Order: sequence, then C-alpha cells, then structure tokens
Amino acid sequence: MKPINVGLLGIGTVGGGTHAVLTRNQEEITRRAGRPIHIVAVADRHVERARELVGADVKVTDDAFSLVDDPNIDIIVELIGGYTTALDLVLRAIDNGKHVVTANKALLAVHGNEIFAAAQKKGVMVAFEAAVAGGIPIIKALREGLSANRIQWLAGIINGTTNFILSEMRDKGLSFTSVLHEAQRLGYAEADPTFDIEGIDAAHKATLMASIAFGIPVQFDKAHVEGINKLDAIDIGYAEQLGYRIKLLGIAKRQANGVELRVHPTLVPSKRLIANVEGAMNAVLVWGDAVGATLYYGKGAGAEPTASAVIADLVDVTRLATADPKNRVPHLAFQPDQLSDLPVLPMSEVETAAYLRMRALDKPGVLADVTRILADLNISIDAMIQKEPAEGEDQADVVLLTHVAREKDINAAIHKIEALESIHGKVTRIRMEALNG
Ligand code: HSE
Repeated sequence: MKPINVGLLGIGTVGGGTHAVLTRNQEEITRRAGRPIHIVAVADRHVERARELVGADVKVTDDAFSLVDDPNIDIIVELIGGYTTALDLVLRAIDNGKHVVTANKALLAVHGNEIFAAAQKKGVMVAFEAAVAGGIPIIKALREGLSANRIQWLAGIINGTTNFILSEMRDKGLSFTSVLHEAQRLGYAEADPTFDIEGIDAAHKATLMASIAFGIPVQFDKAHVEGINKLDAIDIGYAEQLGYRIKLLGIAKRQANGVELRVHPTLVPSKRLIANVEGAMNAVLVWGDAVGATLYYGKGAGAEPTASAVIADLVDVTRLATADPKNRVPHLAFQPDQLSDLPVLPMSEVETAAYLRMRALDKPGVLADVTRILADLNISIDAMIQKEPAEGEDQADVVLLTHVAREKDINAAIHKIEALESIHGKVTRIRMEALNG
C-alpha cells in the first residue's frame, strides 16, 4: 500500500527519537498502521547534523515552510516548539490540507481553539499525545478510554524537572536553589528553567487535559499558576511529619458552577500512590464516575518516550486519514458544536484544605488569637504542630492543617494572622488535596 509521507519540523531530541524509533520498529508499525509511514523530509536549522541523522534518502532543508507547502507530504510533525513560527507553520500546514502531529503544549494551550477550528474547517487532524506527559498515553485515555464517564477531577505530576527537584529536596534535605543548580549541572533541568519551575509548563498540560476531560475550550489564561521556586525545604520536612508529601500538581476539578484549573505545590497524603512518584517520572490520576480512580504513570520527557507518543499519533492519523472527518475522534473529545461554556472558576472560589506555617511568639494567647481568626471565618482546624523555640529564641514555628475551605476565606485569614503583633513575617500557605474521591 502507498506509504504515508511525513515532513518533520525539528530534529532535536524528540525528532531524533522519532526518526530512530520509526526506523527501528518500521515493520511492526507498518503492520499496525496498515501502510508504511516514511519521513520523507526534515527541516532543521542545523542542516548538517540533520543530514547525518537521516541519511541521503531524506530531503533536508532549513526552510520549514517549504515542507508545509510540499504537496508530496501528508502529515507534518511539528517539534519546533514556541508560539510564533510554530503557529504560522501549523496553520499553513492545515490550510494546505495536511494533518498535523505536535508535541507543542504551549502552542495548543494558548492557540488551540484557533488551531482546532481551522483543522475542523479543513477536515484534517491535529494530534497531540506527546504534548502532555510525554510517553504516557493520557490524551488517548481521557478522550477515548474514559469516554463513558463523567470525569470529576484529575490531578497530575506533569513536569518531570520539578518532580526531580522536589524528590531531591526531600531525600537530601537541600534547598530549592542548590538542587536546581545541581540539576542544571547534570543536564536534568534546562539552562532557562522558567517554564518548568514557575509551573507554566504544567499549566499548559493541565489546560489541555481540562478541556478534554470536561469538553470546554482551552483557556490557559484562566489557569491559576504557581511553581515551586518559592518552596522552602522546611515545609517539605513538616509536611512529612504530618504524613504528607509535597508535589507540584496540575489539577482540573468539576464543581457545580464551573471548573477549577490550577497548578501549585500541593500536600498529598504520603500513602497515595501518586505521592510516591519520584524523580523525573510523571503520573496522572483521573477520577471518573463509572470507573473510579485510574492512575497513569511513565516517563514524561526524553527522546524515545516522547517519540512513542508522536508515533502513536502518526499511526492514528494514518489509520483515520480516510475516515469521514465527522466520524473521527474529536480534537477535544466532545463534538466541536457540543463544547460547554462551563466557566473556569476564579481562584477565590476554589475550595481546598490548607497547610499554614507561621512564626509565632511563644507566649500565652497567641494560638487562641490565630484559632479565633480561623473560627470567625468558618475555617476548621484538622491538625497542628508547634515546635519548641530554639535555644535562646522566643519564637517558634506553628503549623496548622485546615479542613476544606474557600480560597478567599483562607486568604482573609492569612491577612489577619499576618497582622497580629505576635506573628512574625509571612504565613506560608500550601494547598492540600486528599485525592480520594
Ligand atoms: N520540561 C518538561 C518536564 C518536559 O520537565 O517535564 C517536556 O514537557
């Protein structure tokens, strides 16, 4: 059968992995897809390096637009990243009637609605399994495997860099800054780690999962985003004493009046499987009303794990290319005219339990003042620890765990507690999730 022709935009880590796995497993992939999948052209800034990787039979150029305009190419694989040139290339490929496979979560989280609408109009597919959690087939699971369910919530460790840093901080009792420097030295963290450590990368991925889980347009601008860059190692220790681990979670949760969409460091009970996902691994926990809890675990980055997802999309597109567009799996799981206007809730309306750490003067009545503030705002205390002041000091750390409360009430409580004369400095707040249904 006639091969399907692929044009690869970018042959860096993931592009190289995609070429290697497609070549190595060619025979089995063809048996699965029903026809051979051939990379016939590659565009990359480093033409010589690209040529060495793919050999003489594949066209190599530094002009990516020549690939999206090439009538001989059926599918464009976009692995360039970023929001600017990648957007132009993807829209032009779609306009030229080509299917697109991309690993670009930033592009889809920000411009996905425009891209999916253009693809819908042209009757082409935009597949993006590699954009969320690397090699874990979470898009497929949410969009197809769980399609019987009303999905209630999902929570994921969807950034390997930050999970590696958190694991090292906990294991070795080191500060965020020293672990980050070590991770950069070893090549685990990017030279510019902003997107990872500030939670932006995780929020891109959470945005995509929320859309597929709830059938809403992509709305990255409404996500609440907090990274791990301000996290103090002392809180990891206190959380552990209370039976919790701190993880950077991407959370999407259905409420009666809207959807919570947020990324922040989160206390998770140590006994949950997801709390024990260590190092650079990823995991996503999804709760559906019929199936209950399901957990997906694997490598969220790297050449061949991500290539595994890119090639699965290539196989899907190859199999489905001849199907009537109306009968294909919709981009955001729900039929485009059935997307819901369920709003993403403002953070003030979100409900979570909280970990609060404060530095309190060790004298009578201080705790009474703090607990009165919480009681007045209807915030109930779940647990508390108070450390003895260090030798020669008159202040001690007090750590409180609250029951579930509304974010705006916790904010008000923090504000009032910080205003007490007997409380020194800021209150550290880390949200908590029980993740048990
Ligand atoms: N930078 C991401 C991570 C991998 O650290 O998980 C690519 O999404």
